[in-house]
Amino acid sequence: MLRRSLSRLSPLLSNGALRPLPPLSSLSLRPLRLSSSSQTLNPPTTPPPQEDDAINDLEGPAPRMTVSIDRSGLHNPPEHSHEASSDSELVKHLKSIIRFRGGPISVAEYMEEVLTNPHSGFYINRDVFGASGDFVTSPEVSQMFGEMVGVWTMCLWEQMGQPENVNLIELGPGRGTLMADLLRGSSKFVNFTKSLNIHLVECSPALQKVQYNTLKCAEDVLGEESSTKRPISGISGAPVHWHAALEQVPSGLPTIILAHEFYDALPIHQFQKTSRGWCEKMIDVSEDSSFQFVLSRHPSPSLLYLSKRCKWASAAEVEQFEHIEVCPKAMELTEQIAKRISLDGGGALIIDYGKNGIVSDSLQAIRKHKFVHILDDPGSADLSAYVDFASIRHSAEEVSENISVHGPITQSQFLGSLGINFRVEALLQNCTEEQAETLRTGYWRLVGDGEAPFWEGPDEQTPIGMGTRYLAVAIVNKRQGAPVPFE
Ligand SMILES: C[S@@+](CC[C@H](N)C(=O)[O-])C[C@H]1O[C@@H](n2cnc3c(N)ncnc32)[C@H](O)[C@@H]1O
Repeated sequence: MLRRSLSRLSPLLSNGALRPLPPLSSLSLRPLRLSSSSQTLNPPTTPPPQEDDAINDLEGPAPRMTVSIDRSGLHNPPEHSHEASSDSELVKHLKSIIRFRGGPISVAEYMEEVLTNPHSGFYINRDVFGASGDFVTSPEVSQMFGEMVGVWTMCLWEQMGQPENVNLIELGPGRGTLMADLLRGSSKFVNFTKSLNIHLVECSPALQKVQYNTLKCAEDVLGEESSTKRPISGISGAPVHWHAALEQVPSGLPTIILAHEFYDALPIHQFQKTSRGWCEKMIDVSEDSSFQFVLSRHPSPSLLYLSKRCKWASAAEVEQFEHIEVCPKAMELTEQIAKRISLDGGGALIIDYGKNGIVSDSLQAIRKHKFVHILDDPGSADLSAYVDFASIRHSAEEVSENISVHGPITQSQFLGSLGINFRVEALLQNCTEEQAETLRTGYWRLVGDGEAPFWEGPDEQTPIGMGTRYLAVAIVNKRQGAPVPFE
């Protein structure tokens, strides 16, 4: 029955036709690189090199970095007192952490500071999306993405028994475009839209403001007697709440959680296999005051997470890797999601780029649509890493027997099964030639694989399909059965 309702839903999505779209030919989705050895650290030789011994150069478009051994075990922590006056606030802050710590910080700590430091993190003070920003995400490419996620959400809501009150939570909503397209697309389904309490989990005050505007929020007085106001979305009339973290969202209502390109921004630890076992890759300040990668000299506490991750893999799988990335925050977040869904009912949809297994060496930095070195001018470039979908499955399954995990399937399978083909055809019926080109290009970017065969424009602007690089996984309460289209 649900399958049938799917093919009905997609063409029926609010006719609202086309939202204004950016000229896509000039934009690129977060470019993906193949796992590379570009930042390979050679294992220390035996006996381990002395501190400051440069082991290897790191390749990259930005400054060349050298690698030395962690000095945290020494009694006299090095002085890093010569700060270049041109250092940004964030660089000064990172260097002061390293100085006070008396040793290097983990890649995870670096990543967290760079992205979400409350004063100068990459996401905190500005809109980083679109042609004038640093990268483009699927919801910004085409309204069809948010509409199809809306179809998935409505189907799950149906499977949940059409509850009158639902928490619809989005983690890391960016500009709020996905949620706006979901609400616009589902506006004909009044019982669904009336049931929604929207909760946006967003750490960036600047992006919260953008989301407020995208959702056309206005302040609504609560009850006749009350002077308390709360934001209501002008698109659907649903109340909208903002939170800095998932645990702040009230529980107790059936819940649907969406996380698109959220997991890839969570801080990862990097480990390297050496002659003395797995060592954590750390970040220190070199003698010339620039950042450099070093290897931890002593076992770091996060090795526990590496060990946990490796227990979920076969010895043969682990054996293949010289480098492994582990994301404890992703494990903890998934546990939280699974517990919430197990108690409150509902489900979660996670879409991101990544792989269904151990991730090796994927951390990347992107500024103004170009790859840059991870250590170059921190805070001015996005950092993201492949998502380990197998780890998501295990983290969820370990904390509750009431939930089931489905997928991953490719974004192309996900959007295709939900009816994106019907939708693009419906939109193409009623649009200008320019809009038609934008639609076709956007469609290819969302579901295509590799370069668009129909492209006749400049080579460097050829749309690249991300349909097989991005994966979708669902975690649902077992009461509801398998979610579409994962059955
Ligand atoms: C890569 S963007 C994805 C945006 C959006 N989902 C999209 O697809 O366009 C990551 C989003 O998560 C937010 N974010 C990143 N880390 C966060 C954290 N630890 N807590 C809350 N929000 C975070 C960022 O501010 C941003 O809105």
